[in-house]
Amino acid sequence: MTALLIWALLFVAVLILIVSLQVLKVIKIFVKESISPSPFATEEEKEQFRLLAAQREAEEQAKPSIWTKLMGLKPMAEEKDLMMDHEFDGIAELDNPTPAWFSVLFYGTIIFAIGYMFNYHVFNWGKSQEEEYAIELQQAADDRLAFLQKPGSAGPQINESNVAQSNDKEVIQKGAALFKTVCTPCHGANGEGGVGPNLTDEFWLHGGGVKDVFKTIKYGVPEKGMVAWEKSMNAKQISDITNYVLSLKGSNPAGAKAPQGKKD
Ligand code: HEC
Repeated sequence: MTALLIWALLFVAVLILIVSLQVLKVIKIFVKESISPSPFATEEEKEQFRLLAAQREAEEQAKPSIWTKLMGLKPMAEEKDLMMDHEFDGIAELDNPTPAWFSVLFYGTIIFAIGYMFNYHVFNWGKSQEEEYAIELQQAADDRLAFLQKPGSAGPQINESNVAQSNDKEVIQKGAALFKTVCTPCHGANGEGGVGPNLTDEFWLHGGGVKDVFKTIKYGVPEKGMVAWEKSMNAKQISDITNYVLSLKGSNPAGAKAPQGKKD
């Protein structure tokens, strides 16, 4: 049914198009005939058309150009009408009209100002600079949060500005399991240190607070060989490992590496 309707509409549209084209053609012929009559016109008619054409041309030339209109210029011949009645030493002043471009600009600014006033001060449709600033700040805060939220996790959204230390056994166990699989090669099975520093003492290169450790693990220290784990772990996993690392403090494992960094 719909298909049939569409076809019918299409058909009507094409029909209208054809008819319009025909009408256009007729109008074209009519205009052409009235400007320069075909050979079928009588001599009299031809003469009449010639006169009309000449008249049109003369009118056309008498019309001031757009430039003249815009600048509000008057022909030299009309200068005497503009002369003001004071004169000194043979020097007279002309009362030239204000050029159109100036008037347009002048009244334009007034109209714009009215619109501006209603928009920003009466109806408060437009946003003020302060409002725009607040919106941009909010946007920046959202963007920052979205940035910190990488790596994403299904659980609670954790990042370095809201991570909190936890002594929960389950959390620490999960962290320990992850530590065993990924961190051991460089930090030792018990965090005693190897290629990487000892994680069980009170000395830290990058700070020993929960937020500091979370950040170090998340972004790594690539130039020193510590991996940025945000690429392969989610925020919850990084948080669990952070808690495990913090739980190692003072565990004094065998073969502990000498302290590095500042005491925290
Ligand atoms: C490829 C070796 C390597 C692996 C794997 C590695 N690290 Fe590191 N890590 C390092 C090095 C090297 C440093 C020292 C960076 C420096 O000198 O600034 C370091 C530093 C750290 C620090 C900062 C210590 C301080 O004193 O501030 C923490 C915390 C840390 N690593 C935790 C981890 C955790 C957790 C894992 C496992 C997810 C891990 N690392 C895996 C090499 C590694």
